[in-house]
Amino acid sequence: MRALELFAGTGGAALGLHRAGFEHVAAVERNAAAADTLRAAGFPAVAADVRSVDFAAWRAGVDLLWASPPCQPGSIAGKRLGAGDERDGWPVTLRAIDACRPTWFLAENVLGWSYHADRCGGDAVACPACDLARIQLALATRFAFSGTWLLDAADYGVPQNRRRLVVWGGPLPLADEGPTPTHAHPAAAEVRGLEPWITMGDAIGETLHRGTCERRLCYPCE
Ligand SMILES: C[S@@+](CC[C@H](N)C(=O)[O-])C[C@H]1O[C@@H](n2cnc3c(N)ncnc32)[C@H](O)[C@@H]1O
Repeated sequence: MRALELFAGTGGAALGLHRAGFEHVAAVERNAAAADTLRAAGFPAVAADVRSVDFAAWRAGVDLLWASPPCQPGSIAGKRLGAGDERDGWPVTLRAIDACRPTWFLAENVLGWSYHADRCGGDAVACPACDLARIQLALATRFAFSGTWLLDAADYGVPQNRRRLVVWGGPLPLADEGPTPTHAHPAAAEVRGLEPWITMGDAIGETLHRGTCERRLCYPCE
């Protein structure tokens, strides 16, 4: 299956898609060094601002449109200006859907998009959660089924607690709760019949041993 990826960064999601069997038609990223990294890893990087891209070239040729829009407009670490932030990547993402007509759509972002602003009053410009509701309505008119998930990457074997909002649309219904977790908090894993979360030490501990990191403090040794 073919994937078009927007806001591709240095390829974390690209690598996951590749491992899941997708072939990229393009991975759009405006940071030149990140685009070089994508290219070096074998992805067809397009080093450009997504807002300047003509998506018509990929019309009807995309099975999955994946987007990781900038998180700053929704993040609790920022001002949460939502649609009022000039970095907001949702409008161009919807434009790409209209131009490419992908079979499936998937976007990931910070949980902040699901939190209402104080006294938001239903204002989709000033409140990230109201804007998300507007985006969900827009997806509902473009796909037979759509929804959102709140997931933690650690529950799927990633050595990091990385909680994410996933927004999806497609021709078939997907499970309300998202993909079935494979891992859980160590205190609950056995009861639930799942693997315990993988720690950073499990994943890269050996590479941090003093023998290989002479000039740095070594966490396993500490
Ligand atoms: C959250 S990161 C993407 C991470 C990526 N999905 C991964 O798995 O590694 C968002 C990326 O969007 C890029 N970006 C932000 N605004 C952009 C724009 N208007 N056009 C193209 N890329 C943009 C940033 O440079 C950044 O690399």
